[in-house]
Amino acid sequence: MKKITVSKEAIAKLKSLFCWVYQNELATPPKDLKDGESVEIYTAGGEYLATGYINQKSVISVRVLSFEKTEINKEFFRARLQTAIDKRKQIQANSNAYRLVHSEADFLAGLIVDFYNGNLAIQINTLGMENQRDIIIELLVELLNPKGIFDKSDAKVRKKEGIETQNGVIYGEVPNEIEIVENGIKFAMSLHDGQKTGFYLDQRRNRYIVSKYIQRDMKVLDVFCNAGGFGLYALSKGAKVQFVDASASAIFQVENNITLNGYEQCTAIKTDAFEFLTQELESNNKYDLIVLDPPPFAKTQKEAIGAMKGMKFLLDTALKMLNPNGMVAIYSCSHYIGMKQLEEMSFEISKNAKMPLQIVEYMYADIDHPNIINIPNSAYLTGLLLRK
Ligand SMILES: C[S@@+](CC[C@H](N)C(=O)[O-])C[C@H]1O[C@@H](n2cnc3c(N)ncnc32)[C@H](O)[C@@H]1O
Repeated sequence: MKKITVSKEAIAKLKSLFCWVYQNELATPPKDLKDGESVEIYTAGGEYLATGYINQKSVISVRVLSFEKTEINKEFFRARLQTAIDKRKQIQANSNAYRLVHSEADFLAGLIVDFYNGNLAIQINTLGMENQRDIIIELLVELLNPKGIFDKSDAKVRKKEGIETQNGVIYGEVPNEIEIVENGIKFAMSLHDGQKTGFYLDQRRNRYIVSKYIQRDMKVLDVFCNAGGFGLYALSKGAKVQFVDASASAIFQVENNITLNGYEQCTAIKTDAFEFLTQELESNNKYDLIVLDPPPFAKTQKEAIGAMKGMKFLLDTALKMLNPNGMVAIYSCSHYIGMKQLEEMSFEISKNAKMPLQIVEYMYADIDHPNIINIPNSAYLTGLLLRK
């Protein structure tokens, strides 16, 4: 395997088990390397640091696969995939849908695999992993014997890596609609027409946590509801639910899921969340629980300031719409707006409104989206359950 050396900054980060090397951290830009090729990373003094793959077209030029000297071959990927599968055993008791591989957080940079009731969705986001495509598919078939595999490699990041997007069935058969069951609640989802890799699996634990506080006939507002996850849990507890999402296909999914579970006492509306909340506040409509689960408003540090304004509006407005003892669950799925920012924002709003707030729960992504202490970006989903 070819060897590269990296800058002092990169050495310190690699020694802390961070798994990216940026373009400007390559010590002497290597010449005879093909993009996507496996490389070993060394200090100028010849100390081994890590093994990964390189793509000099990308700002993140090297992604680490291992901090131990190893060949990058089928056996390597077999062991990595098996570890990832074993780590998900705990979830299988509560759900037949989970993320099997979460890229860097499973030391398989560039690869995402979701399991949906016997079907797999994969997403390959880097050239280095794209080069391993055939091995990965072979292994997924060998280890999991899926009914079908859907390739959802349609992320924009592939352009930065110099690779075309892909979207479609690449193995077996994947039905247009797949039924999954999460904590006893049924969801119909489609890989052929769904957001992300199909379903917001990362919120599974938080849907359960929030549902513990829901009682019969409570009025619940599920804003940015997508397939209706939080609201459907609330309906299962006998609450009355209003669903809101700007996407017509999300509202279609919600209505389908309500029917699938035989729930009543709810309405779903396709509209902009900011406008809806403004109107509800004006109409003085009150709720016992409001869930705010917006998309990632900040994908970069630069966007974080604008995004915070949006988040602040959402929380401030929702808190004004609560019945006594009411609660708001607010989430950020952006690494740039983390727990600290959520707490600071809640504190500011509470201070300005002269309204003390109780933090009832701190929430993170479920364990199939591992939070690796050495990889700060892996902690991308945070949430607070606040009580007035
Ligand atoms: C993170 S997902 C919500 C996931 C959902 N809570 C769940 O548990 O499955 C964010 C949702 O916000 C919706 N959305 C984005 N912008 C919106 C807006 N301005 N108003 C309403 N919904 C919006 C998207 O369509 C998407 O379904």
